[in-house]
Amino acid sequence: MDPYWHEWLNLLIRWIHVITGIAWIGASFYFNWLEGNLERNNPSKGLAGDLWAVHGGGFYHVQKYEVAPAKLPELLHWFKWEAYSTWVSGFALLIIVYYLNPVYLLGSNPAGLSNTAGIALSIGGLIAGWLIYHGLSGTRLVENPIWFTAVFALLAISAAYGYTQVFDGRAAYLQLGAMIGTIMVANVFYVIIPAQKIMVTAMQRGELPDPAPGKNALRRSLHNNYLTLPVLFIMISHHFPSTFGHAYNWAILAALALISAAVRHYFNLKNQGRKIVWILPLALLAIFSLALISKSQPHSAGQTNAPLSGQQQAGNINAPPVVSFDQIRSIIQARCVSCHSATPSDTVFTVAPLGYVLDTDQQIIDTKDKIYLRTIATQTMPLANMTGMTDQERALLGAWIQNSQ
Ligand code: HEC
Repeated sequence: MDPYWHEWLNLLIRWIHVITGIAWIGASFYFNWLEGNLERNNPSKGLAGDLWAVHGGGFYHVQKYEVAPAKLPELLHWFKWEAYSTWVSGFALLIIVYYLNPVYLLGSNPAGLSNTAGIALSIGGLIAGWLIYHGLSGTRLVENPIWFTAVFALLAISAAYGYTQVFDGRAAYLQLGAMIGTIMVANVFYVIIPAQKIMVTAMQRGELPDPAPGKNALRRSLHNNYLTLPVLFIMISHHFPSTFGHAYNWAILAALALISAAVRHYFNLKNQGRKIVWILPLALLAIFSLALISKSQPHSAGQTNAPLSGQQQAGNINAPPVVSFDQIRSIIQARCVSCHSATPSDTVFTVAPLGYVLDTDQQIIDTKDKIYLRTIATQTMPLANMTGMTDQERALLGAWIQNSQ
């Protein structure tokens, strides 16, 4: 596709995805908050509880029925299109960003997959993720939240590990996010909305609805609630090459997901009036420790043939050798400007990615921190090392940047 139109299409769909995502997650946060904050002491007959709130210059009084009101109201609001349109726009983005440019998906392609195999694996992963989760949620394990969480976390971490072995780090993260997002939407589509339909149909027949489907729906909605924070991190993870570009990127993702689910747990407990204050500082400490631990580890991404990463080599040189700018310029010209130029020669990237251009000396000097981050600290550039940058070149770049600090 023409890169110009590709970018505008990407813009439009991404915008829609963020808007619908906010609408969905916002409603989900609101209803979970409502559930936790209902005043349940001495509710009126047939009610589970009620709640008063003030917002936007008005007072609201919300009531939750134990099962259902005696008579169905004429207008009943449902919350489903937010979820569906988030998934549809998300999947469209997956096509636009990754499937149309499989080099983004496969990176240096360590498993040697064909483009079609890579895309099939990605779509198959979304389906398999739901089937496995749904199967697990149909067993008695679901009654035991601790064991269920443990088994689910283990499966999700295995998936993250597997994806990082076949996909580019960035794509592997997104694939896991898309997989979890698919589980969440499928929970709405296959469980939560049908349960509500069963209840409404029963009432239309004048029967008292069976509370069991509602309870199951509430549980799935709680699962979704715990999955939101990890998914939201994944959706912004593109900005953080220190995570997806790390040699243990899957472990960093697992740690961040567990920490954020714990934070969600804190808020859920707090909504129920059980404040466990140490969870938040502990989560902060955990994130800080994670940043510290992963800093001391070698980084590599898309580079399976690098015995020593550039960072180690550069770091091991006690007094960095003096590198002339001529050397740096020729490295950048050989390895970067095929894409990062006002007139790229690359056949796929005919427009400089992210508008990032390295044509002039000044552009190189002004952005040396970015260059350090992408070529030395995380080795996520050159993309999939398509231009064949050597470890020695990385070490030279690293030494030059160290010297020029
Ligand atoms: C084959 C094309 C290609 C080559 C070669 C390439 N890049 Fe990139 N670069 C990209 C793409 C695509 C992106 C945007 C996606 C991303 O951030 O991962 C990008 C993003 C970047 C960014 C982030 C820019 C920003 O504003 O955040 C930096 C920095 C970067 N590249 C540096 C380099 C350096 C330095 C080299 C050479 C050592 C290089 N790239 C070689 C394709 C390439």
